[in-house]
Amino acid sequence: MVTRALDVVLLGPPGAGKGTQAKRLAATFNLLHISTGDLLREEVGKGSELGQQAASYMQKGELVPDDLVAKMLVTRLHSQQGLAGCVFDGYPRTRAQAELLDGLLAELGRRVDVAVYLEVPDDEVVARLGGRRSCPSCGAVYHLRTQPPARDGVCDVCGSQLVVREDDKEEVIRQRLAVYRTHTEPLLELYGGRGVLARVPGQGTPEEVFLRLADAVRGGRER
Ligand code: AP5
Ligand code: MG
Repeated sequence: MVTRALDVVLLGPPGAGKGTQAKRLAATFNLLHISTGDLLREEVGKGSELGQQAASYMQKGELVPDDLVAKMLVTRLHSQQGLAGCVFDGYPRTRAQAELLDGLLAELGRRVDVAVYLEVPDDEVVARLGGRRSCPSCGAVYHLRTQPPARDGVCDVCGSQLVVREDDKEEVIRQRLAVYRTHTEPLLELYGGRGVLARVPGQGTPEEVFLRLADAVRGGRER
């Protein structure tokens, strides 16, 4: 039996839980997790030319220009064969990015099968990001209250020191939310119009959210 690829876009405001859930989806459905935010932070960490260009936008909570993100996305998309598809976390964020993604997937005989909108109110976003701790080495994500690491300040997965992301200051969070509303929220209409949008309440424990998400993804696969 030939099974076709499954490509999932995760939409939602900053702090909605995209990264947390994308890792689980990738593991459960054997998908390649593509987080443009993680890829950009990797470039910033390496001090590459791309990283240096991207850093100033990221610190202000602005979008990094499309062409800088596109190159990285293409490399990652073609980096691993043999997986059953991709979960796109934080991409696309603009209509132009959505069009680029359609084109890239079409070249591979694929399409966005399901776009999941993780709905979380603004107050909850601020609370989640205020308590987030991230691992700069392996990308694991924690929360001081809801998902604390076993040892204070230390990554359970790789033992590195956890950090507060530079853009997790309240004024930058507010700016990221505003950018999200202006540039990314219109994609709900785009994917809704195509009949591939699933709205999933993002509140509740990560396990509860995951069960809803997995149902939505299975629905997309069957379409
Ligand atoms: P990016 O890294 O994508 O950030 P974001 O979209 O703002 O989202 P976050 O990563 O902050 O949140 P998340 O939804 O992944 O939530 P998480 O799972 O961590 O982008 C950063 C920047 O890079 C952008 O501002 C932009 O400058 C640039 N960029 C990236 N992509 C770009 C693109 N395509 N084009 C242009 N620029 C781009 O969870 C958050 C916290 O909540 C954690 O502490 C977690 O433990 C906790 N949590 C998760 N789920 C739950 C739950 N159910 N209950 C309680 N707590 C929970
Ligand atoms: Mg994230």
